[in-house]
Amino acid sequence: MDKVVIGVIGFGTVGTGVVKILVQNRDILEKRAGVPVILKKIADLDTSSDRGVPLAPGVLTAEVSEILEDPEITVVVEAIGGENPAKSFIEKALRAGKNVVTSNKEVIAKHGAFFTSLARETGCSILYEAAVGGGIPVLHAIRNSLAGNRIEKVFGIVNGTTNYILTKMTASGADFSETLKEAQALGYAEADPKNDVEGYDVAYKLAILASLAFRCEVDYSRIYREGITGITAEDIAAARQFGYTIKMLAVGINHGNRIELHVHPVMIENGHPLATVNDVFNAIYIRGDSLGDAMFYGRGAGELPTASAVVGDIMNLAFRRQSGFIQDSEFGLEQLPVIPMDECSTSFFIRCSVDDKPGVLADISRVFANHGISILSIQQIGAHEDTATITTITHPVTEAQMKAALGETGKLRSVRNICSVIRVGLEE
Ligand code: HSE
Repeated sequence: MDKVVIGVIGFGTVGTGVVKILVQNRDILEKRAGVPVILKKIADLDTSSDRGVPLAPGVLTAEVSEILEDPEITVVVEAIGGENPAKSFIEKALRAGKNVVTSNKEVIAKHGAFFTSLARETGCSILYEAAVGGGIPVLHAIRNSLAGNRIEKVFGIVNGTTNYILTKMTASGADFSETLKEAQALGYAEADPKNDVEGYDVAYKLAILASLAFRCEVDYSRIYREGITGITAEDIAAARQFGYTIKMLAVGINHGNRIELHVHPVMIENGHPLATVNDVFNAIYIRGDSLGDAMFYGRGAGELPTASAVVGDIMNLAFRRQSGFIQDSEFGLEQLPVIPMDECSTSFFIRCSVDDKPGVLADISRVFANHGISILSIQQIGAHEDTATITTITHPVTEAQMKAALGETGKLRSVRNICSVIRVGLEE
């Protein structure tokens, strides 16, 4: 490889960050790569907005074909996001024998196995470090530095928007909808926040993390997912009383011949390192059989942090090509079934609103005992007229046990409402 010639598709936040780094740090990049690193084309439908970066005439085009059909371009950066048309651009680039670097978690979570096998056929590579944890180099670490480990667990705060909202709710005591509005006004949440607050973004990232960490194909649609829209100020206050912080987590556990994959809010003990990860920061916690526990922490989104990971992948391609090493081996190595959520086990926090009268606590604990559920802690936290709120934390039980017990608890005459059910703790 006597030069690296790059085409960037998408001149939005990530694309602009990539172009800035390629322009501003060109001398460092060329010294490290040992060959010229040339930004040849940028394709975007908007060719008129000023992105604050000087470009030579003819670099910016509205025609993506000027990148995909240019034989001189060997590295295509896909920075448009979403499934379509990104999938078709990536496929065309790989079929044309071009290497691809992308920050697009959705397209990789859904089509990563296909892209990797296509890249193998055409003798090129696809890299996507920026798709998980933004600028945090966690995928490279899993692929390379941790390759000697059997990775047992991967937990993470991988969504900045939900972490920001939960951090602010914890600090201010405000409710979800109020905090979401503030986050939207500050640009930390999208106008349509569904992808973030309902956990889709986290599930895409978990699919990618698990496929690399557990060296298996992950069917994204098998990941159990719950968002943070049901978390209330009362839940946050109760969590604090019990010594917990609520975080939105991606959870992956390798049981050897099956894997556990779920995305939902978790009450984490305040002493756990993940409990202290605040605002838009991300952190991925990994347990390897040789390494033990490690946490990767940093900025999970934003123009330059995300672009840092994209440019890192471009450099990685340049280093690989110089050394003659081309292929990645991930995807398609093992087919590990995902354990049905009903069989997974965890502790639970339950908050109920009940009639404030004799025997209510006994009724609830009897239902739990009948379902084999052991209570770790139970509290009545304040009464309002003839209503009381009961909060309970259980020892670990299966999701099926808890579902059955809650069904019966909800039918008790003295129970007015089961307000919240939140998973507690990270299994050791
Ligand atoms: N919406 C994502 C987040 C952006 O909030 O973390 C980075 O993937």
